[in-house]
Amino acid sequence: MTTVLKTEDLRKQFGELTAVDDVSIEIDDSEITSIIGPNGAGKTTFYNLLTGVLQPTAGSIWLRSDESGGDGGRNADGPSDGLRDITDAEPHEVAQAGLSRSYQITNIFEGLTVRENVRVARISHEETRLDFRSRANENEAMESEIEDILDLTGLTGIADTACDTLSHGEKRTVEIALALAIEPNVFLMDEPTAGMNPTEVTEIVSLIRDLDADLDATFVVTEHNMDVVKDISDRIVVLAEGSILADGTPTDVLTDERVTEAYLGSDSA
Ligand SMILES: Nc1ncnc2c1ncn2[C@@H]1O[C@H](COP(=O)(O)OP(=O)(O)OP(=O)(O)O)[C@@H](O)[C@H]1O
Ligand SMILES: [Mg+2]
Repeated sequence: MTTVLKTEDLRKQFGELTAVDDVSIEIDDSEITSIIGPNGAGKTTFYNLLTGVLQPTAGSIWLRSDESGGDGGRNADGPSDGLRDITDAEPHEVAQAGLSRSYQITNIFEGLTVRENVRVARISHEETRLDFRSRANENEAMESEIEDILDLTGLTGIADTACDTLSHGEKRTVEIALALAIEPNVFLMDEPTAGMNPTEVTEIVSLIRDLDADLDATFVVTEHNMDVVKDISDRIVVLAEGSILADGTPTDVLTDERVTEAYLGSDSA
């Protein structure tokens, strides 16, 4: 059991509205954690804080990172060894530190092929690295890493297909491949099954399981589809009105009366 991501009293206010209300959480590398909650509970805002897209009003964020140095002595004051304070980091620094995300809304280059999209993501990640290997070796290594990512995500067969001709489910899988291109330690997925048909849902769930087994990355998923949540989660954290309402095993959390009430009290189910 190792903590890979941690928040302390993390808070985000939009004017009077407290979208994320003093959330303290530790994500363990041995579990797939789902973050669920009614519409407007603060899930996407929480992800935006973690990934540096939004600046928190208060609190801190810590990430286990393979990178040594770069952070000076800040870790010395940290709550636990090996965690790096990324509270003030910019999105590209967060990605560089190993926290990756696939979005709720598609953000791929439609005119490029699947492989070209993965290559772009990989190159932009490589360019931010201070790495002095020779160009030739770098390109060769990169091409083989691109093929690995295509293989892991089951996209090899459509690697040369332009993305604008792909199905919605295929595009969501490409997004996962793009997020993998930064070699994440922690992979945040925001509603990976949104807009998918039942066949695509089954495929994406089995892909997430396979990736979790094959990679060192720790998966954190927000999801409205309760069948998916039950299926993939080792742990479920319920957010309601920005606060943690429940946190535990699927059996405990999904039978918790407060959780049922939170869902019934909102427009979503
Ligand atoms: N940029 C913003 N400015 C003002 N209010 C915002 C902003 N982003 C989100 N909110 C508000 O913060 C609250 C939390 O929204 P958020 O999108 O994080 O919820 P969510 O749990 O992801 O919901 P959903 O399940 O619908 O995706 C909502 O009341 C939303 O209207
Ligand atoms: Mg959301």
